[in-house]
Amino acid sequence: MTRLHTKTTLITGAGTGIGLAVAQRFANEGARVILADRNEAAALAAASAIGSLARAVVMDISDESSVADAFASLGADGWAPDVVVANAGVQLFGEDAPAAELDLDVWKRTLDINLTGTFLTVKHAVRSMLANGPGSIILTGSPTGINGEGRDFTAYSATKAGIHGLTRTVAAAYAADGIRVNTVVPAYTETSLVTSITSDPEARSAIIGRIPLGRAGSPADIEGIMVYLASDDGAFATGGLFAVDGGMTTL
Ligand SMILES: NC(=O)c1ccc[n+]([C@@H]2O[C@H](COP(=O)([O-])OP(=O)(O)OC[C@H]3O[C@@H](n4cnc5c(N)ncnc54)[C@H](O)[C@@H]3O)[C@@H](O)[C@H]2O)c1
Repeated sequence: MTRLHTKTTLITGAGTGIGLAVAQRFANEGARVILADRNEAAALAAASAIGSLARAVVMDISDESSVADAFASLGADGWAPDVVVANAGVQLFGEDAPAAELDLDVWKRTLDINLTGTFLTVKHAVRSMLANGPGSIILTGSPTGINGEGRDFTAYSATKAGIHGLTRTVAAAYAADGIRVNTVVPAYTETSLVTSITSDPEARSAIIGRIPLGRAGSPADIEGIMVYLASDDGAFATGGLFAVDGGMTTL
């Protein structure tokens, strides 16, 4: 498997979950992999398990200087990425709430990471690609940005709908520069993000009931579409939403 053997790739939120699975798969496909996370220990452990093709970068996507410094130091080291997966995100279960009860602080904390953080990752990825050569940027959306999937998901859903819109605008703006921008839409995928659902049999069965294929997703389910969009197989794909959701967004 060497579909990415000429690529340098950067994945945010690669310390665990979907980002970690994608980083491991990209390395198996021959890519150099930069595991970016605000959790330094997790990123270092994951990079060390992958080996010499990988390096860890501490990056808080909600802090512009952290994002800009990471891209600058990668460029200076000859590791400017051809592929950037803007995957890091949070969902503040137990704090996100129906609009009338939602604290402004919870709204802002969700937007700061999911929407502003994704924007900052995209902004500095585009700048790096304009300076170093074309590439592919992949964002992580959600069915909640398309359908109403949870009455408590007010802030989270707003951020994911924002990411879907950001994809289209940035794709159109930089297509002539050879920069492709797409969003992958995973459904309920069993990672640490959704522990509060996974550990509650009633909630788990309700959400799986909304997935026509009748099961939860796993991080491995998301790897293949990421490889397609990162590789030259995806050369004509830009501005798209790619649902890998067991059919959830058909309902
Ligand atoms: N798990 C799901 O069901 C699901 C479904 C649809 C979309 N998503 C999206 O997929 C992405 C990955 O989710 P996951 O399930 O793997 O989550 P996860 O919680 O397992 O992993 C998220 C990673 O992002 C990192 N992170 C959080 N805030 C950060 C910041 N400010 N800067 C840098 N890193 C930060 C965390 O340290 C962690 O390593 C998220 O954007 C999430 O919204 C997840």
